[in-house]
Amino acid sequence: MIIQPRVRGFICLTSHPEGTAQHVKQQIDHVKSKGKIENGPKKVLVIGASTGFGLASRITAAFGTDAATIGVFFEKPAAPGKPGTAGWYNTAAFENEAHAAGLYAKSINGDAFSDEIKRQTIDLIKEDLGQVDLVVYSLASPRRTHPKTGVAYTSVLKPIGQVFTDKTVDFHSGVVSDISIQPVESEEDINKTIAVMGGEDWKFWIEQLKDAGVLADGVKTVAYSYIGPELTYPIYRNGTIGRAKDDLEGTVPVLNDLLEGIGGISYVSVNKALVTQSSSAIPVVPLYISLLYKVMKEKGIHEGTIEQMQRLFAERLYANGEIPLDEKGRIRVDDWEMREDVQTEVAKLWKQITTENLEQISDIAGYRKDFFNLFGFSFDTVDYDKDTNEVVKILSIK
Ligand code: NAD
Ligand code: NA
Repeated sequence: MIIQPRVRGFICLTSHPEGTAQHVKQQIDHVKSKGKIENGPKKVLVIGASTGFGLASRITAAFGTDAATIGVFFEKPAAPGKPGTAGWYNTAAFENEAHAAGLYAKSINGDAFSDEIKRQTIDLIKEDLGQVDLVVYSLASPRRTHPKTGVAYTSVLKPIGQVFTDKTVDFHSGVVSDISIQPVESEEDINKTIAVMGGEDWKFWIEQLKDAGVLADGVKTVAYSYIGPELTYPIYRNGTIGRAKDDLEGTVPVLNDLLEGIGGISYVSVNKALVTQSSSAIPVVPLYISLLYKVMKEKGIHEGTIEQMQRLFAERLYANGEIPLDEKGRIRVDDWEMREDVQTEVAKLWKQITTENLEQISDIAGYRKDFFNLFGFSFDTVDYDKDTNEVVKILSIK
């Protein structure tokens, strides 16, 4: 099969096995280049492990601290004439590299919101690892079927209270235009979004893992959040998704109570805005990211998902001494994004940005490259006219 990108809106329908393997390899190389993380986790469960921050967390655990990892995700393998999803190939490539390095790595493909997948995961931990000492919760999904009620919730990305009008970019065509997004019509929209992206499922996971006795003494669990600049507040932090993030962050004390008996602790880490399959779906955010990349690259402080997660593990979660937290008890690895000099610069460029100057004053080129890289495209080292069947044969999840 010859696989080329097929883009529809903000998603890419195809993924390239060799390119995604290249992407994973680059991330592994970054973690290795940073050296071993002292006193890191040894047995790690990553929920949402196939792409984005979850994949980067898994790679950091495996190659930064030689951890055994179990990854849970929802992906599609290749079928005749149809490529698999990027997360499928990422995981196959990750497992190949992990096994070659003598590391334990197994994966579970299915709906992490369901009780069935939680049970399968618990069984696998019991059989192979006994217990885990770190649980990373990195799901991003537009829908969730509630395991107790069977109700299917779909999240919405809307402002609350008033219409939000600002600039946005179609990052494929490079057209900058104004977008107006209508606010939620009822509490219902907010509640649906909280049901999908809030903290309930994280709590269900930790409860069930704990009840099964598969959490080690002193276990840590971490989930990921976002805040961002004021300009995206209406659509992000003060919008429906922000309410879900409030709920996720509010789950920390609940989990800490649950884990107290085994000396465990939970954290939310606020991460930097980055190009992932999830963030490219949010209006306004891709234009902000393009400007942010420009400014952070110029200042030499740009990070991708792997740099973020390596720093989270090495300098926060497993740093010597006390973990620095903000006034709300959160870990911040968005600290460089939120630096005042960075935000002042971005805000200045935000006012100026148009279709005409997009290529000059923003890093839209970097945005596009990162977007295509997510699906294994735009790697100089990959020949995209070559048949991928042989690669797919090697890339299976064991
Ligand atoms: P992503 O889309 O790259 O990854 C989502 C993961 O969840 C994938 O592994 C996917 O397979 C898995 N998943 C989705 N639905 C599932 C299901 N039903 N069952 C099992 N697995 C499922 O997303 P991401 O951007 O890495 O986001 C991860 C977390 O980080 C989210 O909480 C997100 O809000 C947060 N975050 C993202 C950004 C950003 O800019 N991308 C910034 C800060 C925080
Ligand atoms: Na993820």
